[in-house]
Amino acid sequence: MESKQNSDCSNEGTTLGRRKMLILYGSETGNSEESASDVERMARRLRFQTLLEEMNDVELTDLLRYSLVVFVVSTTGQGDLPKNARKFWKNLLRKRLPPNCLRQVKFTTFGLGDSSYYQFNWAARKLHKRLEQLGAVEFLPRGEADERHEDG
Ligand SMILES: Cc1cc2nc3c(=O)[nH]c(=O)nc-3n(C[C@H](O)[C@H](O)[C@H](O)COP(=O)(O)O)c2cc1C
Repeated sequence: MESKQNSDCSNEGTTLGRRKMLILYGSETGNSEESASDVERMARRLRFQTLLEEMNDVELTDLLRYSLVVFVVSTTGQGDLPKNARKFWKNLLRKRLPPNCLRQVKFTTFGLGDSSYYQFNWAARKLHKRLEQLGAVEFLPRGEADERHEDG
């Protein structure tokens, strides 16, 4: 990753990349990671420069360097984020983050889940909501995959 010195979401010293897509995944058993790789392949065909990373491997300021950010995240436990996304999620929940600090970020989320759980796709839903609370702007509606779907 580029600079990770600044861990809040201040925009100082950053530049917004052009046609650069950051694809982040949170995955417990590999399904979201695989789906994130599919997204990356499609984005490259559309001539985006891409970077694929685990959610925990980026700081909030890193989001500001990309024209689009795509999150692919599964739900685990009882509506929880996967382990490799929890540090990122904790950062996102910090109370001292300035309101609208992610207003430059255009994002979408794609959730993987199983509709037999009451907490169906909660990880992607709460992530999406929190990003919007911080001012990030959805560029595509949230997508939800269901393991129970007849097409798998
Ligand atoms: C222990 C466990 C708990 C799960 N909890 C949920 C849940 O609360 N909500 C949901 O929608 N799916 C739940 N799932 C289904 C997973 O989200 C689904 O299998 C997903 O494809 C896993 O993706 P991953 O391999 O990227 O972690 C759970 C699966 C397991 C094994």
